[in-house]
Amino acid sequence: MRIDGRHYRTIWPSEDGRTVEVIDQTKLPHDFGTVTLRGLDDAVAAIRDMVVRGAPLIGATGAYGLALALADDPRDAALEAAHARLFEARPTAVNLRWGLEEVRRAVAGLPEAERATAAFRRAAEICDEDVEICRAIGRHGMELIAEAHARAGRSRPVNILTHCNAGWLATVDWGTALAPIYMAHEAGIPVHVWVDETRPRNQGASLTAWELNHHGVPHTVIPDNVGGHLMQHGMVDLCIVGTDRTTATGDVCNKIGTYLKALAAHDNGVPFYVALPSPTIDWGMSNGIREIPIEQRGGHEVSHITGRTADGGIATVMVTPEGSPVANYAFDVTPARLVTGLITERGTCPASREGLSRLFPDGAAARAI
Ligand code: MRU
Repeated sequence: MRIDGRHYRTIWPSEDGRTVEVIDQTKLPHDFGTVTLRGLDDAVAAIRDMVVRGAPLIGATGAYGLALALADDPRDAALEAAHARLFEARPTAVNLRWGLEEVRRAVAGLPEAERATAAFRRAAEICDEDVEICRAIGRHGMELIAEAHARAGRSRPVNILTHCNAGWLATVDWGTALAPIYMAHEAGIPVHVWVDETRPRNQGASLTAWELNHHGVPHTVIPDNVGGHLMQHGMVDLCIVGTDRTTATGDVCNKIGTYLKALAAHDNGVPFYVALPSPTIDWGMSNGIREIPIEQRGGHEVSHITGRTADGGIATVMVTPEGSPVANYAFDVTPARLVTGLITERGTCPASREGLSRLFPDGAAARAI
């Protein structure tokens, strides 16, 4: 995607091929900058501290992290230690496990001297594949927006509600939930996006709004609790969100608060779609609520908030009373029965084992072995 006329991905290898550059998402929306990952420690910290975030980008960073580790030490023991550290950096997005396994498979059986090169190559392929997957998700999702536009008599913009950031910042490029919106916008279908602010880290207010602003897509940032009211008043045509892990049965784990939006959508007959690349499917899980590990992050993200002050500085202030305990569950699970459809790179399907295995017989079969 373009920032001030220059095309960016969220992650790319440096020119000498020894380090990796990423956009620093902790500084957005007020500052745009990049960070260099020079080794395993930097990659682990970038994932853990959410310099990079979003399931597909976490997977790509994990892959590059393993490549950086192998460049430093290509022995089996070092590979396994690096794999373990990266795997533990964030627990919910299954793309991290997927990216690490892809690189481990790519270097398996190779002489030590060839491992780093093979790992960097596979990491770069993962990034290229992610771009193509998200482009395909965009094409399939755009059809749903075009249908909603036709249902509305083509008389007004299609109102789409989204939660968190599942845009190009969360992937390598394009995004998942936002890719259909960008494509609809580019195709001349009028869209307007309701952007949930997404407390506590405000990925909606700071990242999704920033992306949409840069691409000229009409949008409005709303506090997290507004969506239900808008749906009751016919002001949302459809919801599209992303996911960090989707079970083989179509249960969807996404940023905390997604479940409440799905409940409100169900109660008001608003279609609720989830956009996902196939590496986000966990074919080994069938009950999202019981099985998906839910990350709990530090309380500081709840008790404090960061923003720009009137004099242009950046400040962090406390919003809770001193001494009040806080809880920070980062994700929740939306049961498949509340999901209208899953938008994947191979098309849109029902959120069910049948729906997913019809589109991905290879994935379902691999798991059954
Ligand atoms: O905690 P984050 O910001 O990594 O959470 C991201 C999300 O919940 C996204 O919606 C999800 O990863 C889908 S990204 C295409």
